[in-house]
Amino acid sequence: MDDLRDKYIGLIADAADEAAIEDLRVQAVGKKGEIALKMRELGKMTPEERQVMGPKLNALKDEINSALSAKKSSLADAALEERLKTEWLDVTLPGRGRRQGSIHPISQVTEEVTAIFADMGFAVAEGPQIETDWYNFDALNIPGHHPARAEMDTFYTHRAEGDNRPPHVLRTHTSPVQIRSMEKTGAPTRIICPGRVYRADYDQTHTPMFHQVEGLAIDKDISMANLKWVLEEFLTAFFGTTVKTRFRASHFPFTEPSAEVDIQCSWEDGSVKVGEGDDWLEVLGSGMVHPKVLAAGGIDANEYQGFAFGIGIDRLAMLKYGIPDLRAFFDSDLRWLRHYGFASLDQPTLHGGLVR
Ligand code: DAH
Repeated sequence: MDDLRDKYIGLIADAADEAAIEDLRVQAVGKKGEIALKMRELGKMTPEERQVMGPKLNALKDEINSALSAKKSSLADAALEERLKTEWLDVTLPGRGRRQGSIHPISQVTEEVTAIFADMGFAVAEGPQIETDWYNFDALNIPGHHPARAEMDTFYTHRAEGDNRPPHVLRTHTSPVQIRSMEKTGAPTRIICPGRVYRADYDQTHTPMFHQVEGLAIDKDISMANLKWVLEEFLTAFFGTTVKTRFRASHFPFTEPSAEVDIQCSWEDGSVKVGEGDDWLEVLGSGMVHPKVLAAGGIDANEYQGFAFGIGIDRLAMLKYGIPDLRAFFDSDLRWLRHYGFASLDQPTLHGGLVR
């Protein structure tokens, strides 16, 4: 037994790594190791012998086990010591600078528009970008045969063979949110809905995805005069200068009467200035909500009326910040983003520059 002890204590002391320790553990105290073999011999001994040898063997097993774990942890300590010598970190070095991102002009203008309308008591509503044709067209008084459907260059989703339901569309305007919010909150209501819209069109002033902000106000005593005031207040606050407007009679299926609104501007050397000169630029469509649209939204047109408008956000951003090409908005060119982008702390607020 002493030989066995000396042998293993020596081998453990000389073990070079954790793998060697594991081998020794299997050889000495494993299920088929030398101690186990000795334990088996206990069966052949007399009870007296067994009483002496049993505890001795157990003690030997314990001794070897603790030598194994002591060696194991001293090997681990040595390995850590070695790593600490080669790996080090100079915490006094200056940090690596990261370039700051910027707020996209569309996001900035959306925030500006929202701040101005929020101040006039409009809440922000949202709707899905993938719409049913009912919300995008029918509920807005654009029936199946109406030319507006064809004119809008709609993106349709795919339906499986044999599925005859009308396909969903990528919403072509934010107007369906009018219906959704009437259904949700009823009348009276005052909301705007900024968001993405889609049409299959691409040139210097059209991209297949662009942005609109819809407005809707419904109450018992709403007239075209309220619409005009709200829009003029908005345009003046947004452009930071008194903006002359021109309401031109127009036609939209969802409003009656309808008006397109132009703002006063000047064109000089190919760049446009708002609030001066004697040119006009169209910026939005608007009108009094059609009774059929109120009915589609579940509102009694005999009791309530309202106005609505739809503004192109991208167009507003181009005008206010002098951005000539719409397509550049969506090119993700870092140089462009750094030039036209806004600092994250440049939050648009009424007290911080938006006038009202
Ligand atoms: N939905 C129209 C478009 O995308 C814009 C519009 C016009 C919205 C008149 C309105 C409105 O709410 O009253 O061309």
